[in-house]
Amino acid sequence: MVKGENMTTNIIVTGRGGTGKSTFATLAVKELKGARLIIDADPDQCLSALLGVDLDEAGIKTVSEALFEIQKGETDASMDSMPLPEKVDYLLQLSCLYESPEFDLLTLGVKWTRGCYCAPNNALRTLITELASNYDYAVFDSPAGLEHINRRIVSRADDIFAIVDPSAKALRNAEHVIDIADTIDFSFKNLYTVANYRFPEDLLASLENMDHSRYLGKVEHDARVESLDWSGDSLLRLPADSPACRSVRELLAKAGYRTQ
Ligand SMILES: Nc1ncnc2c1ncn2[C@@H]1O[C@H](COP(=O)(O)OP(=O)(O)OP(=O)(O)O)[C@@H](O)[C@H]1O
Ligand SMILES: [Mg+2]
Repeated sequence: MVKGENMTTNIIVTGRGGTGKSTFATLAVKELKGARLIIDADPDQCLSALLGVDLDEAGIKTVSEALFEIQKGETDASMDSMPLPEKVDYLLQLSCLYESPEFDLLTLGVKWTRGCYCAPNNALRTLITELASNYDYAVFDSPAGLEHINRRIVSRADDIFAIVDPSAKALRNAEHVIDIADTIDFSFKNLYTVANYRFPEDLLASLENMDHSRYLGKVEHDARVESLDWSGDSLLRLPADSPACRSVRELLAKAGYRTQ
């Protein structure tokens, strides 16, 4: 069965800092065919820049900002009588969702203090899952591993893409995804490992031999990714035949996705 065809496929991109997660998530959104939601779960909010979106200019708030307004009682008086989950849902759809013909973007924003936003937080996980169900694909760019995602954002995934750089720690990290998922009761169908653009060919066997995961291939080094990143321009401007786009497209096709 082709993924994303009959129901939403939840995709989590994970890995250590700086391995290329956000680049992979952005290029996956560029290359997937169908209705796409991308969720920036990184407090640094770098995805909007990679996607060429100016959230301020578009008048879009982060989810943190919206939750903060609710907590401070700063929402519009017309919302006063709404139950909390309805309020969060209303703001999520109306103020936080950036919509475009190619993809929609939800930005979670800076971490909110644990405790004070507890009630809106609980509502949030259900609402994000509901929102995601309107799309063929929901791509989550996760900063701090599955624990964070599970507690706050989503409790199940179809596919986890672990982006691995050439270090012993990164390999251990990828191996531990299964244990962590087990511990935090996070269910998923497939764990794919992806070698990042710095991974040397002669070490790829270590990924191929890993248990409980399928090694998909490598994201090729692409000088244009670096220069677009440096100049703050959108990665969506990369030509389809650029090494990074081509490799991400091939990796997604290998995992059973419909691509452009
Ligand atoms: N295929 C590639 N070719 C060349 N450079 C790349 C490639 N993929 C990513 N990079 C560069 O590597 C750096 C880190 O990439 P990215 O921001 O996607 O990583 P990340 O894992 O999301 O980082 P963080 O953990 O900070 O969120 C960026 O400067 C990016 O331009
Ligand atoms: Mg990132």
